[in-house]
Amino acid sequence: MFHGKQVLITGGLGFIGSNLAHRLVRSGAIVTLIDSLIPEYGGNLFNIAEIAGQVHVNISDVRDEHSLRYLVCGKDFLFNLAGQTSHLDSMQDPYADLDINCRAQLSILEACRKYNAGIKVVFASTRQLYGKPDYLPVDERHILRPVDVNGINKMAGEWYHILYNNVHGIRACALRLTNTIGPRMRIKDARQTFLGIWIKLLLEGKPFEVWDGAQLRDFTYVDDAVDAFLLAAESQDANGKIFNVGGDSVISLHDLANLLVDVNGGGEFLTRTFPPNRKRIDIGDYYADFEYIRTMLGWRPAITLADALRRTLDFYRKHLDQYI
Ligand SMILES: NC(=O)c1ccc[n+]([C@@H]2O[C@H](COP(=O)([O-])OP(=O)(O)OC[C@H]3O[C@@H](n4cnc5c(N)ncnc54)[C@H](O)[C@@H]3O)[C@@H](O)[C@H]2O)c1
Repeated sequence: MFHGKQVLITGGLGFIGSNLAHRLVRSGAIVTLIDSLIPEYGGNLFNIAEIAGQVHVNISDVRDEHSLRYLVCGKDFLFNLAGQTSHLDSMQDPYADLDINCRAQLSILEACRKYNAGIKVVFASTRQLYGKPDYLPVDERHILRPVDVNGINKMAGEWYHILYNNVHGIRACALRLTNTIGPRMRIKDARQTFLGIWIKLLLEGKPFEVWDGAQLRDFTYVDDAVDAFLLAAESQDANGKIFNVGGDSVISLHDLANLLVDVNGGGEFLTRTFPPNRKRIDIGDYYADFEYIRTMLGWRPAITLADALRRTLDFYRKHLDQYI
């Protein structure tokens, strides 16, 4: 399907984008990555060290309409993953989040409409759109009630994609990802995912902090998330659709911390109350109903949570210095 195809990945030096790039290179696709490498975000050139000679890298910003116009031309697929992903940052600097997660998404789609209307687009959306769930598991019919600026801007970004599919015929669909974990995620600090900082501290032999601990979550291993992106790109039935992507199990953060320590073969953590600035935008318990993507696209998670943690720890044991 992807062999010989021209593929563009925005956010391609980030966590999920670079894992997608590895898979696409293996499939024989001709892959171009766009990434701004803004230091506080998840982009890292080491993420593509193994495929560096096999991908085109364009260090540019998706807010730059001129470079996008050039970059979308001639592409068969666009995996649109560039994003400001910190919920807390979106509350402290709402305009940067607005520009990247909302306005730039519109200009990406405008570039497609004007210069390459035949492209197929898959957008990386998020479970953050749902806010605090009214019921569990959360399916795609759940009301959207974001608890932070990031959720609102990602919602607009998602719906621009669906609108351009429905009105302009630019084939597009969206995946609402839950916590995605695996090699190449940012672990430097807690800006993006708490699991990153847990892993870093664990591997440094220091205790990590679990806030509250009772919250329930699901996790997708990054290879499973990549499968979902590829299935969505291949399927014409997916056009105009929005799919939840979930995990193989539901676990409290306290049990997750214990599992991580077990898989690591040792380590310590402390349980603390939630810092107030985080508590205000916390979504409580969440786990996804992913029946829709299972029945429509045949996707289901293949990697267990314990395996996902094992593979992730193995990666950072080898490459910790590249990520801290
Ligand atoms: N990882 C998760 O758990 C998760 C969950 C839900 C949704 N998502 C979504 O998936 C996408 C990828 O997330 P990720 O976890 O790989 O994050 P990431 O931060 O590792 O990757 C995002 C990439 O986008 C790049 N980027 C940011 N702003 C840019 C800009 N203006 N121009 C060009 N590049 C820019 C960053 O440099 C980074 O490399 C994001 O859109 C995110 O909202 C991720």
